[in-house]
Amino acid sequence: KVVGKAIPHESAREHVTGRALYTDDLLQRYPHLLHAWPVQLPQAHARILELKVSGAYRVPGVVKVLTAADVPGVNDSHTHQDEPLFPSEGMFFGQAVAWVLAESEEAARLGAAQVKVEFEPLPAILTIKEAIAQGSFQGSRLQARRGEVERGLQEAPLRLEGELEIGGQEHFYLETQASLAYLDEAGGVVVHSSTQHPSETQQVVAQVLGLPRNRVVVQCLRMGGGFGGKETQANPYAAVAALGAWLTGRPVRVRLNRSQDITLSGKRHPFYARWKVGFTPEGQLLALKMELYADGGWSLDLSEAVLARAVCHSDNAYFIPHMEVIGRVCKTHKTSQTAFRGFGGPQGMVFIEEVLDRVARTLGLPPEVVRERNFYGATETKLDPETLTTHYGQFVKDWERMHQIWHELKLSSDFAQRRAEIAAFNATHPHLKRGLAITPVKFGISFNLTAFNQAGALVLIYQDGSVQVNHGGTEMGQGLHTKMLQIAAQTLGVPLERVRLMPTRTDKIPNTSATAASSGADLNGGAVLEACQKLKARLAGIAAQEFGVNPADIVFEGGQVWSIWNPTQAVPYTQIVQKAYAQRVQLFADGFYRTPGLHWDKSRMWGKPFHYFAFGAAVAEVEVEDFTGAYRVRRVDLLHDVGDSLSPLVDLGQVEGGFIQGMGWLTLEELRWDAQGQVATRSASTYKLPSFSELPEVFKVRLLPKATEPGVVYGSKAVGEPPLMLALSVREALREAVGAFGEGGVVELASPATPEAVFWAIERVREKM
Ligand code: MTE
Ligand code: MOS
Repeated sequence: KVVGKAIPHESAREHVTGRALYTDDLLQRYPHLLHAWPVQLPQAHARILELKVSGAYRVPGVVKVLTAADVPGVNDSHTHQDEPLFPSEGMFFGQAVAWVLAESEEAARLGAAQVKVEFEPLPAILTIKEAIAQGSFQGSRLQARRGEVERGLQEAPLRLEGELEIGGQEHFYLETQASLAYLDEAGGVVVHSSTQHPSETQQVVAQVLGLPRNRVVVQCLRMGGGFGGKETQANPYAAVAALGAWLTGRPVRVRLNRSQDITLSGKRHPFYARWKVGFTPEGQLLALKMELYADGGWSLDLSEAVLARAVCHSDNAYFIPHMEVIGRVCKTHKTSQTAFRGFGGPQGMVFIEEVLDRVARTLGLPPEVVRERNFYGATETKLDPETLTTHYGQFVKDWERMHQIWHELKLSSDFAQRRAEIAAFNATHPHLKRGLAITPVKFGISFNLTAFNQAGALVLIYQDGSVQVNHGGTEMGQGLHTKMLQIAAQTLGVPLERVRLMPTRTDKIPNTSATAASSGADLNGGAVLEACQKLKARLAGIAAQEFGVNPADIVFEGGQVWSIWNPTQAVPYTQIVQKAYAQRVQLFADGFYRTPGLHWDKSRMWGKPFHYFAFGAAVAEVEVEDFTGAYRVRRVDLLHDVGDSLSPLVDLGQVEGGFIQGMGWLTLEELRWDAQGQVATRSASTYKLPSFSELPEVFKVRLLPKATEPGVVYGSKAVGEPPLMLALSVREALREAVGAFGEGGVVELASPATPEAVFWAIERVREKM
């Protein structure tokens, strides 16, 4: 078996030896290329009066200053056409208003410094609260509801109100945004781009150049991380490179340095929420009314979809009979916030976990007891389809799995015993407190926008039996290509070494979706599977003639072909391939997949947007010190459901990496904008990323065994995003530890819960004593 085998990532060796090529590494192949540098606006909001570019041309090596006048097509780098590539109104601090092309990077930089931007400053909106006060919103108002929330709140014996503002997150992919474009020999343009969505990059380049899409080819070999940050936001840089190449006839390279990347590109959305919750003295939620506000930045980008996922995940794993969630995207003068692993799901889930924790502490109940009492299918609720259905109308298939994971993890992590040990520790340590928490994850898999749930593949077999696989997904380190290789090898019955995965190109598979929403393997895997099945059926026909049996009796495995009636008489698969060629049988095939059964009414936010849910749970233990608020993560236990893993090492890496990235967001990474609206945290020295010293001291990660998901390729489940939200356990463990410095009651904790935030949380808890 090749599928399900624990093999390393297909490029692991290249990654660790530095031999793996990324977009910008290709520059060495083009000795005559031009380098691009942006002219960045030093104001958060301004009318641009004039660009004086003549100074730039006096810098030796400067070849061209790109401005709006140079655009042959549409001066816009977004499919919504709300993101002018060369703006006349500057919308955020650092926005690129022109690009300088030069013979060297240094000349481009010096040239950009000589472009004089005359502008008139305009008032800027820099926070969610300012945006709400001024009614500065974009996109539509979202609303999901079930039951009668006002009545539910009124009739509830107990009620609470609250609010919480949470921070965003910088993607900090190791490879910054990069593109390299050149003219091809047939009147078109080729763009190498570090993009999660080559088809949309192609669309945007064609739009800017005023060309039909067939004149633009976009290729993505691999990314050094995307994390959602290259789902749309690679497009402007591809457009600049392509425009430069189109105008000068020379290859053009755009590669942002770190501070350019952080000041130009969008981030995870900061959110603000306020809520009212009604509940019983036992901690059962009866009604929840929640308002979600996302800081979308200067343009809409993916904000509406991100907000929709937040609205759809503000139940997490819990049934709330009367529930209403509304959402708005705020328009502010900041970078345009975008997709980031979890895509709004994490934000929705932070708030419901916050609500549950406050309910628990108000009642003096252990938070994990309140959590499990509110699960879909909890023993306290009577089981009927209604109580197993989300507030957007989807039945929670496999809800029992959530309970199974929860109880197994509690046992395997010695939860009860450690609680007692921690209580004893805390009783004898006035300045050190430990906290333990368990939190669940239920995450919906599929794009909310039904049309995106499709994928294509093209598989070629050559006469020597070697195979090329093309599919529409992109590789960003998540191991998609590894999984596709395994699926192709398994389905064709050939050894892995016979199969080669080709770079993702728009001239191989058209109209592809972004590799996003964790569905890359589900969608492209379905397409690769279909293409390989077609080829195998054709080859089985040839082999059946050879052996004089039925095609259904032919077995392909490990590069050998035999009939079930005579397994000892195998012939090499290559021999069958050659016979097929001689008989003029087609040795290449396409594959297509669309997720079945999805429907979604966006205006009512009702339907079945997800093919299934991924489940998981996490137990975290922390130790907090009161003088500084510094803490350590002592131990983390994760149990996560990936169905039957396509590639267990890859999936373990995804669970671990997702968790650590989530922990960074919730505890370390603090984006700051200064009073002028400039991102103040522009490098790794001011923006704290998780590193070795913050890793859990004990880290036990397991994939749920025997978890076949019938409707998905080889019984697997998507894995890319859901584990990020397992990190909620660390936030809740910190809260538990902070609470131990006081005498019970609600514990207010900012997000991110940096040591500074934890310090102030301890101070507040002590003030109440
Ligand atoms: N893992 C690595 N190493 N690098 C990445 O950029 N992106 C994440 C996740 N895991 C990412 C990653 C995000 S945001 C998504 S949506 C999925 O991978 C996308 O890939 P998939 O659909 O193939 O899982
Ligand atoms: Mo992932 S945020 O869907 O690219």
